[in-house]
Amino acid sequence: MSDTKRLLSGMQPTGTGALHLGNFEGALRNWVRLQDTYEMYCFVADWHSLTTMYADPKGIKDASLQVAADYIASGIAPAKSAIFRQSDVKEHAELHLLLSMVTPVGWLERVPTFKDKRDLMEEKGAGDENVSYGLLGYPLLQTADILLYRAHAVPVGKDQAAHLEISREIARRFNHLYGAVFPEPQAVIPEFTSAVPGLDGRKMSKSYGNAIFLSDSPEIVAEKVKNSFTTPTKIRKTDPGVPEHCVVCQLRKIYDPDGYKVSWDEDIAGERGCMQSKKELAEILNAFLEPIRKRREELLSDPAELERILQDGAVRARACAEITMKQVRDVLGFA
Ligand code: ADP
Ligand code: TRP
Repeated sequence: MSDTKRLLSGMQPTGTGALHLGNFEGALRNWVRLQDTYEMYCFVADWHSLTTMYADPKGIKDASLQVAADYIASGIAPAKSAIFRQSDVKEHAELHLLLSMVTPVGWLERVPTFKDKRDLMEEKGAGDENVSYGLLGYPLLQTADILLYRAHAVPVGKDQAAHLEISREIARRFNHLYGAVFPEPQAVIPEFTSAVPGLDGRKMSKSYGNAIFLSDSPEIVAEKVKNSFTTPTKIRKTDPGVPEHCVVCQLRKIYDPDGYKVSWDEDIAGERGCMQSKKELAEILNAFLEPIRKRREELLSDPAELERILQDGAVRARACAEITMKQVRDVLGFA
């Protein structure tokens, strides 16, 4: 077995599957950076999407292709990294089942994302029958994803920290019971900020309708930026801005790290209007997105080739997963 450390991460194909700038900065950018030094597994967490899309699962297949195209267009190289769908590697389900036997229900009930999702359903008036066993087990399936590849590192955004914490606890418990099979996976979380802000100032998220997608056309990007939040007390050009509380200034800082300072100083001094800042930001974002947009369109115009990449990724993933499952079955006495 090679000594190269393994790295794994994935995203859910919820909604249309298209990924946004928050996904890119929070997770994908690190995947691309780390793929040269790690043996890398990048997957589409399609079974996870069923926790919320179970009533209408037909869109998941197409959405998965969108996610895969976004991975590759963002710089994940199929020749280096295994890119695959979770549902193509059935060992995820087997390990999930076996880990479920050693995971106390209380641990899952305490995960903050589960509490949030349950509260949200209650608020919406959805009944208890919407809180499925699968939803409670979401972090356990995620743990199986990670441990199946004996991953050492998992690059994700900060909101995934609690899931990584429970993954480590489950790995520790399994190792304690049966012997050291799994490394304890470390989260790799960007330090720049807690989250990329969306157009309304909240965290950028598919579910808030405040995202700029990697697939958005130049016109849509310009329109979205034009309608985004700036400093509420800055009405005239000469009013001072507060860049820390302005989405346009925050995004400029991320995408123009060498040049943003001048624009911030002018904003604070009341020497520039929001319209100018928005126009410049749209240009900066479009220059960044252009190559990604082009590449994802090329990829999606040839679904057979995309499918071939996913099948090749699944073969490589299965080879690694099988080594783990042999060990797991062996320590449990099922070999
Ligand atoms: P969404 O909130 O749009 O549904 P996901 O929950 O599917 O996004 O997140 C996929 C990955 O992208 C995770 O690793 C998550 O931490 C990261 N991520 C999502 N939104 C942001 C954001 N606004 N800033 C930083 N990282 C993010
Ligand atoms: N829960 C992750 C998210 O919402 C997606 C995910 C599923 C994942 N399995 C994983 C991320 C394993 C990292 C490792 O973004």
